[in-house]
Amino acid sequence: MIAVAAVLSGVALLLLGLRLGGALAAAIPGLPDAGPTTGWALPAVRLLSDGLATVTVGMLVTAAFLLPGDERSVSPHGYLLLRRASVAAVGWAVAALSLLVLTVSDLLGQPLDTLRPSTVVSFATSIAQGQSLALQAGLALAVALLSRAGVSRGLAAAVAVLASVAVLPPAFTGHAAGAGNHQIAVTSLALHILAAAMWIGGLVALLMVRRGRLLADAVARYSRLALGCFVAVTVSGAANAAVRLGAVEQLWHSRYGWLVVGKLAALLILGAAGAAHRSRTLPALRAGQRHAFGRLAAGELMVFAATVGLAVALSRSPTPDAVSSAEADPITELLGFPMPAAPTPANLLGQPLPDMFFLTLCVLGIGGYLGGVRRLHAGGHRWPAARTASWVGGMLLLAAATNLGVARYAYVLFSAHMAQHMVLSMVVPILLVGGAPVTLALRTLRRPGDPQVRGAREWLLIAVRSRPTRLLTHPLVALGIYSASLFGLYFSDLLGVLMRSHLGHLAMLTHFVVAGYLMCWVLIGVDPGRRRLPHPLLVTIHLASMMAHGFFGLVLMQTTTVLAPDWYISVHPAWASSLLDDQRLGAGIAWAFGEIPAVLIMIILVRQWIRADKREQARLDRAADRADATGEDDDLARYNAFLAAAGQSAEDSRRTAAPGLPEA
Ligand code: HEM
Repeated sequence: MIAVAAVLSGVALLLLGLRLGGALAAAIPGLPDAGPTTGWALPAVRLLSDGLATVTVGMLVTAAFLLPGDERSVSPHGYLLLRRASVAAVGWAVAALSLLVLTVSDLLGQPLDTLRPSTVVSFATSIAQGQSLALQAGLALAVALLSRAGVSRGLAAAVAVLASVAVLPPAFTGHAAGAGNHQIAVTSLALHILAAAMWIGGLVALLMVRRGRLLADAVARYSRLALGCFVAVTVSGAANAAVRLGAVEQLWHSRYGWLVVGKLAALLILGAAGAAHRSRTLPALRAGQRHAFGRLAAGELMVFAATVGLAVALSRSPTPDAVSSAEADPITELLGFPMPAAPTPANLLGQPLPDMFFLTLCVLGIGGYLGGVRRLHAGGHRWPAARTASWVGGMLLLAAATNLGVARYAYVLFSAHMAQHMVLSMVVPILLVGGAPVTLALRTLRRPGDPQVRGAREWLLIAVRSRPTRLLTHPLVALGIYSASLFGLYFSDLLGVLMRSHLGHLAMLTHFVVAGYLMCWVLIGVDPGRRRLPHPLLVTIHLASMMAHGFFGLVLMQTTTVLAPDWYISVHPAWASSLLDDQRLGAGIAWAFGEIPAVLIMIILVRQWIRADKREQARLDRAADRADATGEDDDLARYNAFLAAAGQSAEDSRRTAAPGLPEA
């Protein structure tokens, strides 16, 4: 009954939104038209796909993270949700494939019955939007199969993460990718869709949990997740709307703006419902009144469905920004922002290019860390200020390197890109590793009341002790990732491919930070999870990474061909020196810049070595003192005894072998 009502309100608002937003405008004579079937089926199937994706993500996240388990496996309710998620994921995969066909028909203005399979196949394999829908269908199918592959909590968690990733691809290629400032548009939409899916899907899944006591605890945990999603949906929705509208007055001057206002109204209603859950539903649930939750959640679900209906209509409606960006020059189209003027210190630090992904990461990173330190202090425990300064400094540097003016130049100048790369892979990681975030998290994250529930702390411990972490923190693996990615990225076509797509560029910058963090963690990390290696070996590994880095800089400097020519030739600024000169400057930055953090790591390593030696010496001294005091043998005495015994048995065997020989 609730489901039917939700679907009806979703469809109703979709139809209203399509009419209001102008998405149903009559076909322009002379322009190819896909016809009414595609015109209606496309938004309807999109709503279905969004709905099934949301339900799948919600059920998996609830089974893996909100409900208690049963030792290593999910609870019976969790098992039920896994099963249902598998069915929903199959529907999602079929809807995504249907969307693929409908999108080709829509883009080419060809009615469905005239479409040739080869056209659909080439769209799915060679056009970004087609590739993302095909990828989404494939991932949804994998989710469907894996949700049935077992009942372990680890598997449920992995499938929940996979489903969350699967909602993202269309955000990187659809309406957003064509917008002006697509860095913000694309990342904010991805964050928006993911947060909306967890928020709505979690509520749907909880409506399926029948047992009162279990529900009360799960709703309390969901409520914390929902608050985070509420904030994320608001911020990302506002950022996305700002890019599309171009100016605030477009909120009431454009049809697109009206739909956004409709969503804002829905957001306020849902925010109020969330507050009511916290103040009234939770206490009622604790008192055993299960219906209190069901009633409010049902109402909420209808508002959610209506909002998603509006959202789909929004994605089909022309944006006011589309008019101004149509006059944009090809460089602005390609970059998502106009070509910057020649670099000056003011330009490199000013004219920010906000990147929602890294900004969100830095805000959460700093906020979470300082919250942890505050909790530790509130508990009367100390936390070294140097660690806090190191972490916050690392996060601020990460935000600066990915959001300030330098981020603009990194798109058009190889030298600026290399400077950004060096900061992200060599300086930011030293500072972040110095903050010992895992140690702080394990000391401050609370253990859930119910031991059968795995909270953030338990999942972190599992991750730190997991086989993949042990593999990644193997010094040769970390060194391999760190060095090979340098050569693999710059001496193949990969750089050009990654520079062309926002998702690719984001993945590249993230890789720089992660590869650098892994290397620093292995060498100078204090957090648990890494292998404890003898210091001489660590120094050797670091020297090897310095040599690999130096060699990379030298080879780059000798290179006489332009790297990623397709990209750098198409964005080469008129005010810049020649491509090869700029590339050599980049090589110089890589070579010279790399030395400074490398020396810093060496200093930290040697300091840790000296300290470890001192600790070992103190331990031996204490043991010797204890032995003196108690007359018991200490390590030294035991060692000497061992040597003596070894010597004696060697002498004995020598004697047995040749009885006539004189004493040694
Ligand atoms: C109330 C909770 C909300 C939910 C559940 C929600 C859900 C969604 C979903 C699912 C999409 C993707 C639709 C698609 O492409 O298939 C979307 C897109 C979008 N949402 Fe929201 N949203 C919410 C609130 C907001 C708010 C408050 C704003 C603005 C302040 C907003 C602005 C946008 C924009 C601009 C898009 C992109 C549409 C396009 O492609 O042109 N949303 N939203």
